[in-house]
Amino acid sequence: MNDLLTLAVELAAEGAELALRLRRDGLEVGTKSSPVDVVTNADRAVEAHIRARLSTVRPRDGFLGEESDAAESESGLTWVVDPIDGTVNFLYGIPEWACSVAVVEGVDPASWTVHAGAVVNAAAGERFAAARGGGATRNGEPIRAGAPADLATSLVGTGFGYRAEVRAEQGRALQALLPRVRDIRRHGAASLDLCAVACGRLDAYAERGLSPWDFAAGALVATEAGAAVAAGDVREGRRLVAAAAPTIADEFAAAVTQIGL
Ligand code: IPD
Repeated sequence: MNDLLTLAVELAAEGAELALRLRRDGLEVGTKSSPVDVVTNADRAVEAHIRARLSTVRPRDGFLGEESDAAESESGLTWVVDPIDGTVNFLYGIPEWACSVAVVEGVDPASWTVHAGAVVNAAAGERFAAARGGGATRNGEPIRAGAPADLATSLVGTGFGYRAEVRAEQGRALQALLPRVRDIRRHGAASLDLCAVACGRLDAYAERGLSPWDFAAGALVATEAGAAVAAGDVREGRRLVAAAAPTIADEFAAAVTQIGL
C-alpha cells in the first residue's frame, strides 16, 4: 500500500512540475468537447510522461487517463490520471490546477476501491495524498474535514460542465442552493475542490458530470479526511460527485436532491 501511495505522489509531483515547465516555454492550445473545453500540449505531455513511467514500473496495471486511450488491467489495478485538472485555470495562470493520480481496483467508479491517490498543485506548492485506511495529508501533515454547524453557515463548492445546455441546468440548480448556504465557490478544479473539503477550506462540494479522473484521487483524500463522499448517482450519463463535512452530510445530500443537481 505504501509503495502505491509513494508512486502516486511521485507521479503527480513529476507531472505537475513538468506542466509548470511547459507553461513557461509557451503553450499550444486546442479544444475538445466544445469551444470552451481546452487542451494544451502540456496536458498531453504530462499524461504521456506518467503513462511511460507506469509502463516501466507497473506494466501489468491498467490505465485510464483524460487525454489518451484506456488500457485494460492484467493485475486488477488501474491508474486513473488527470494530467492537468483545471486546465482553464492553467491556461490563464490562475494557481488552482493540479495533477491527479489514483490507483484503483475495479472498473466502476461507483464501486471500485481506491487504494491510493495524490493531487499536486505545483503552482501553490501543495501536495494532497491519501492511502485507503491511512488518513489524508497536505504536504505530509494530517488533514481533517471541518465541522460546520449547519448548511446555512456552510461554504459550498461546485463546478460546471463544458456544454451550454448542461450549464443552464447547473445554473438553475445553483440559484435554488445559493439562498440556503453561506456562499458558493467555483474554483475550477474538481480534484482540488475535493481536497478543499478534506482540509476544511470548503464545507461541501457537489458537481454533476465529472469523469473518473476528475475525482478518483480527490475523493479518497476527502474520505480519508473524514468527509462523507458519494459518487454512485448517474443521470443521463452524468455522474454526481458530492463530498461534505460529516456534520452537514445528511442536510447537504437532501438539499442536492431537492435542487435537482
Ligand atoms: C474540469 C475541472 C472543473 C470541473 C469540470 C472538469 P478539466 O476538469 O475539474 O472544475 O468543473 O467539470 O471537467 O477539464 O480541467 O480536467
